Amino acid sequence: MTVSETRSAPLDRGAPDVLFSAGQIAARIEVLADEIAENPVIAAAARTARPGSVLSVCALRGGFMFAADLLRALSARRIDPDIGFVQAASYGAGTVSSGQVQMVRELKIDIGGRPVLLIDDILDSGRTLVHLESYLKGNGAADVISAVLLDKPARRAVPAEADYVGFTCPDAFVVGYGMDAAGRYRGLPYVGLLPGASVSPPSI
Ligand code: IMP
Ligand code: MG
Repeated sequence: MTVSETRSAPLDRGAPDVLFSAGQIAARIEVLADEIAENPVIAAAARTARPGSVLSVCALRGGFMFAADLLRALSARRIDPDIGFVQAASYGAGTVSSGQVQMVRELKIDIGGRPVLLIDDILDSGRTLVHLESYLKGNGAADVISAVLLDKPARRAVPAEADYVGFTCPDAFVVGYGMDAAGRYRGLPYVGLLPGASVSPPSI
């Protein structure tokens, strides 16, 4: 690959269409941070003298960019959580999820009875969120408060609801802002639709 091919590679096959722009995401995160800072559990923990009294847990890999921006917005509101990382995966034949969620990366720090702010990119079937909530509670979380950038209600397979949602998302595969398609597009500053992807409106 030549230098010029390396530089232009991400856009060669067409940039994903913008679904939620970088500006929309940034503005929405400010509102979410206001709301999360006022959450009674988070606010009470943040008032205690103990440093890092709220623990944030970022679901890898797609949640890293949302977590980074959300933590910066929370810091401006004097909420100062420590952060841990987990990674869950659904295994199944081909592209069809088996519905079985497994931890591929366990939390490596002690929750120690703290409330946890769980941060993920997308609430889709709901299986990941349900699994991670029960995992965190099983590991000593006093409470689990969840924040997802995107919610696809039309795709729900199990009852699941996030406490804080950035945007309701149409039933289409999205990329960017941390999220990938076969390892590409994670660094896009916006949430986009792959070229040619069809969008059907959410059913609710
Ligand atoms: P769930 O267990 O079906 O709710 O899966 C949620 C996870 O699937 C998210 O955290 C994402 O990692 C991934 N995911 C679901 N929909 C998309 C998408 O449209 N683009 C990229 N990743 C997705
Ligand atoms: Mg994810």
